[in-house]
Amino acid sequence: MDSFTGKLAVVTGGGSGMGRELVRQLAAQGCSVATCDWHADAVAETAIMAGEAAPPGVRVSSHACDVSDEGQVLRFRDELLEEHASDHVDLVFSNAGIGGGGSFVSDSREEWERTFAVDWWGVYYCARAFLPLLIASGDGVLVNTSSVNGFWATLGPGMPNQAYSTAKFAVRGFTEGLIEDLRTNAPQVRVAVVMPGHVGTNIVANSLRARGLPEPEHLSDAQVEELIPRDAQAKLISAGLLAEGGSADDLRQMLARMSTDFRDKAPLSAADAATIILDGVRSGAWRILVGQDAKTLDEAVRAKPEAAYDYAELGRMARPDG
Ligand SMILES: NC(=O)c1ccc[n+]([C@@H]2O[C@H](COP(=O)([O-])OP(=O)(O)OC[C@H]3O[C@@H](n4cnc5c(N)ncnc54)[C@H](O)[C@@H]3O)[C@@H](O)[C@H]2O)c1
Repeated sequence: MDSFTGKLAVVTGGGSGMGRELVRQLAAQGCSVATCDWHADAVAETAIMAGEAAPPGVRVSSHACDVSDEGQVLRFRDELLEEHASDHVDLVFSNAGIGGGGSFVSDSREEWERTFAVDWWGVYYCARAFLPLLIASGDGVLVNTSSVNGFWATLGPGMPNQAYSTAKFAVRGFTEGLIEDLRTNAPQVRVAVVMPGHVGTNIVANSLRARGLPEPEHLSDAQVEELIPRDAQAKLISAGLLAEGGSADDLRQMLARMSTDFRDKAPLSAADAATIILDGVRSGAWRILVGQDAKTLDEAVRAKPEAAYDYAELGRMARPDG
């Protein structure tokens, strides 16, 4: 597939971040898009922006859908086929995702399972729903977004990332498993797994919202205490990230800063990440690392898997002179 012009793409999680940028860039390149999000207003805004900037004949539709609910995914599929008057789709970007469930030990089971349901079952339900339509395309591509946490199951010292990593490893394994399955049983479809490093998006605030919480600056004292319990506060203090005797307000400000810094101080923007993803898909790559940080980490973990969780050694290997 050397061009997206005249194709029909599905993008999940199109209301923000990389999903929104994928929709905009696909539409600008002449590709019709059906995009969904569980935030109907946000994804409707994406569709308007993308549609306004697209060449004539391109149709961008938005749909409300929670990808962790199979019934909603099937409804999304039926809606988009009708709206685009199509019996197939050419590209599916399973991009929707949230963070959360950092600790299997101390976070709630509910939070762990919510994160896993969105990040794994969402990808699985979309593959189930859309694979027959990709086969019907005759030249289909399924693009599943994993993460560097699909090959490295932590965020670093003191920052476990349990449910997210479990789901993202599953997405990578599922997608890699489809390579031979499709080659054998449906050669008109190929797959790609996307593994971004740090990309500047609102995922931190959006993931709080997925737990029914407000923007970090509007969290109540009780919500702040629940998000960062006493023992976690003690660890932050010893890591020099929080002043001793800090109030709930200090914690609230720290969370707000973490969220905006994640978005504004990232090495790569969501738009640049979407360009890398689309270039990768167009080139036929099945493994798309997004960002220099993702490439460096991938090389270090592959070179010495045993050192993956020995942060000092991993850091030395990741340095050019290491
Ligand atoms: N930002 C990063 O640094 C980074 C790194 C690695 C992987 N990723 C992955 O990239 C993907 C996109 O993330 P982003 O950073 O653009 O985040 P984002 O929060 O900016 O965008 C994700 C979108 O998905 C939507 N969404 C979440 N759960 C949903 C659900 N159940 N049903 C439908 N829509 C849902 C959100 O509402 C949001 O609009 C995610 O899968 C994420 O895990 C992000």
